[in-house]
Amino acid sequence: MLLDVPPRRILNRFFAEPLPPAGSFDGQTVVVTGGTAGIGLVAAIHFAKLGADVIITYRNASRGEAARRKIAESALAAGAKAATVTLMELDMSSYASCVAFVGELKKGCSGGVDVVVLNAGRISPNFETSPEGWEQTIQVNALSTILLALLLLPWMKEERAHRKSPAHLVFTSSRDHLYPNIKQWAVWAKNERILNHLSDEKNWPWFWATSEPNYANSKLLLMYGVQEITKQALGPDGNPEVIVTSYCPGTVRTEIARDIAGYNWLARLIVPIYMAVLGKSLDHGARYCVAAAMRPEHEHGRFAMVWLTEEQYLRKALPNMTSDCAKNIQAMAWKEIISELSAKVPAIKNQNAHCESSIEK
Ligand SMILES: NC(=O)c1ccc[n+]([C@@H]2O[C@H](COP(=O)([O-])OP(=O)(O)OC[C@H]3O[C@@H](n4cnc5c(N)ncnc54)[C@H](OP(=O)(O)O)[C@@H]3O)[C@@H](O)[C@H]2O)c1
Repeated sequence: MLLDVPPRRILNRFFAEPLPPAGSFDGQTVVVTGGTAGIGLVAAIHFAKLGADVIITYRNASRGEAARRKIAESALAAGAKAATVTLMELDMSSYASCVAFVGELKKGCSGGVDVVVLNAGRISPNFETSPEGWEQTIQVNALSTILLALLLLPWMKEERAHRKSPAHLVFTSSRDHLYPNIKQWAVWAKNERILNHLSDEKNWPWFWATSEPNYANSKLLLMYGVQEITKQALGPDGNPEVIVTSYCPGTVRTEIARDIAGYNWLARLIVPIYMAVLGKSLDHGARYCVAAAMRPEHEHGRFAMVWLTEEQYLRKALPNMTSDCAKNIQAMAWKEIISELSAKVPAIKNQNAHCESSIEK
């Protein structure tokens, strides 16, 4: 994937997506998970400058407060109305925290919200298990992100009747979902199950093999979830009651690569060069998030990617997303995800009362 660098990708870092006119988000409430750093923080700044009241999530109170202050000050300095910036706690390594966050959000926003960006994510070269028993990258980027979407979607759909147009549910994904070899996934699905395979330390790649094991796998699982959530967002008339989209911001100079850069001497050498050649600024990266939050209804379900045209993406997405084999794997992966979430989260069990019992771990 390091060599997957068409000129468009390199050039892209020099051209910024245009921002919408001032006031475009006036009167709107925008929720951004992982708003304390990186793309989430700068996207929250853009939304506030464009007039939105912003809710960001945090794990660490002082990082949260620093981000809150930065968003509010930036909005004020840009001449936006005094934006309300609210902090809400969310640690996506735990389902209980996801459930509590959604409960608080519903309580605090009785009139609904206009945009939810599920952005929080991680990369790590080190094997770490979440309190729920899954490898942390799979837990945060896939399982908990999908859980949040499933908990939020019925509430966001209910609000459709009171809105002029549907609210937006945006996933910060990655082009990396194109990279896993899903023929292997078919074997894992039959033997030990996909989630178990990806969370078994025995299968963690050897030291030099990759500095971001499971990142691409987590984003493919997420995209399989997004396909289902896209369907669930449709109303009885076949039109979206919530506009669901996902996007890849391209390579952005954020904190996400910190663990990779500290992994070994080779990574310490390569990561800064890679970022210097391909990495775009945070401002540029976050603009893709703003664009995703404004997609029209007819783009419901779209994955937007900065350095591939729609046609190029669809060609590349054939093996993992749209082929018959991919559809088969997607169905198996989704069954595992729903089975896991139904077993551990009563609200999901109720939503999927017909779902099969928990997968064995
Ligand atoms: N940077 C890129 O080149 C790139 C490319 C493609 C896609 N993306 C995607 O963009 C999204 C944002 O990444 P970034 O590059 O902005 O990374 P970042 O600078 O590391 O920021 C990640 C954010 O996610 C939060 N987070 C991490 N683990 C969490 C957890 N367990 N529970 C709740 N929040 C958690 C972090 O909170 P703390 O402050 O508490 O750590 C932080 O706010 C990710 O989904 C990533 O996969 C990034």
